[in-house]
Amino acid sequence: MKIAVIGTGYVGLVTGTCLAETGNEVICVDIDQLKVEKMQHGIIPIYEPGLDILFLRNISQKRLSFTTDLAMAIKDAQIIFMALPTPPGEDGTADLSYILGAAADVSKLITSYKVIVNKSTVPVGTADKVKAVFEANTAVEVDVVSNPEFLREGVAVEDFMKPDRVVIGTKSEKAMKLMTDLYAPYVRSGNPILFMDEKSSELTKYAANAFLATKITFMNEIANLCELVHADVDAVRLGIGSDDRIGKRFLFPGLGYGGSCFPKDVQALSKSAEEHQYNFQILKAVMTVNEKQKTVLVDKVLKYFKGNLKGKHFALWGLAFKPETDDIREAPALYIINRLLLNGATVTAFDPEGMNNIKGLLGDRINYANNQYEALQDADALLIATEWSVFRNPDFEKMEEIMGNKVIFDGRNLYDLQKMVDLGYYYNSIGRSL
Ligand code: UGA
Repeated sequence: MKIAVIGTGYVGLVTGTCLAETGNEVICVDIDQLKVEKMQHGIIPIYEPGLDILFLRNISQKRLSFTTDLAMAIKDAQIIFMALPTPPGEDGTADLSYILGAAADVSKLITSYKVIVNKSTVPVGTADKVKAVFEANTAVEVDVVSNPEFLREGVAVEDFMKPDRVVIGTKSEKAMKLMTDLYAPYVRSGNPILFMDEKSSELTKYAANAFLATKITFMNEIANLCELVHADVDAVRLGIGSDDRIGKRFLFPGLGYGGSCFPKDVQALSKSAEEHQYNFQILKAVMTVNEKQKTVLVDKVLKYFKGNLKGKHFALWGLAFKPETDDIREAPALYIINRLLLNGATVTAFDPEGMNNIKGLLGDRINYANNQYEALQDADALLIATEWSVFRNPDFEKMEEIMGNKVIFDGRNLYDLQKMVDLGYYYNSIGRSL
């Protein structure tokens, strides 16, 4: 099939590359000339494990190409994917101007039937708005389909190639047939392609992310309670997660959810409910608890140092909002750094992939290390904000030698409590006690 993908951000690039991998001819289009030129030369603009291999393979096999020329990209395409940003506006509602703008541009260029697929996360009713743009500008037949993405950063290729489910929102038989053909290679193991109306599909995306954010937040509250009653959240997690109705995944307490999706989507769903005069109370609680959870580690640090961090120096391991990504958007580490600095402390940070992004954001407000051990030099304590594998089994003796002390505040529960006691460390993690 011939496919065009508008927008080569994270979702667009993964979608375009993975669609090319099953033999489709994919042209990705973006307004950013420099980025397009780089991609034409095989330079991938994002860090995503495994994507680079597929990216280069499909470029060299000429199934994947990049352009700034929208007319050329969509001319022969049967399906046009829109993977454009929907940033939160000042009031938290999703800004649809990129999507509606692209729809208007496409509507003025097409001369034959197209399936317009919306991959971006958009409020309920957006498909109708996109349809209205086409109706206003062209007599050419189009079907507007909602097809939300469920990719996790870090495992996006696997999520795309072997999805738990594909959700397709359309009532058009013609569009359903094309979309079924397109996705058939990805659901060979028997996972479903779920067809529904556009609005239900749009809401499915928000409901999935909001539910997962709620699940995490619930566990964070259980963890906080565990600390007060001297229970162990790891045991509780296993105790409840073994019940199939609850499930083992997304029950890990930590420093609150971050990233570019959960915070934005929970807020947008809450706003969307408000617009329909519905008070979605649980989401408000989720947002409030999550904000607090992001700095729970600093509360522990403040308590340990009796409220005075002036002149103290901290090592910080982990900046990305989660492992296997360089993405620092809404990362708990940012909130931690901010509060440490506000309290007069200094920070040296290390992250396996997030260093460039953090340097761009914070400049010389903090110090940067070349590796995790270098970050420990002269630190009064180590704080851990991301559960990168490389932090899981460090050389504790070497750490003590460099730091000159044995104090760790761990926001990701990486180490065994008994082991840390045996090693003589002061070790404070989330929701655990011996
Ligand atoms: C999330 C969803 O998982 C994807 O299905 C969805 O497609 C994507 O948003 C999106 O809307 O684009 P992502 O933001 O990449 O994916 O990251 P997750 O792996 O879901 O983690 C989100 C946050 O929750 C991270 O800050 C992570 O540290 C936190 N988390 C996750 C926990 O604190 N505990 C857990 O048990 C799991």
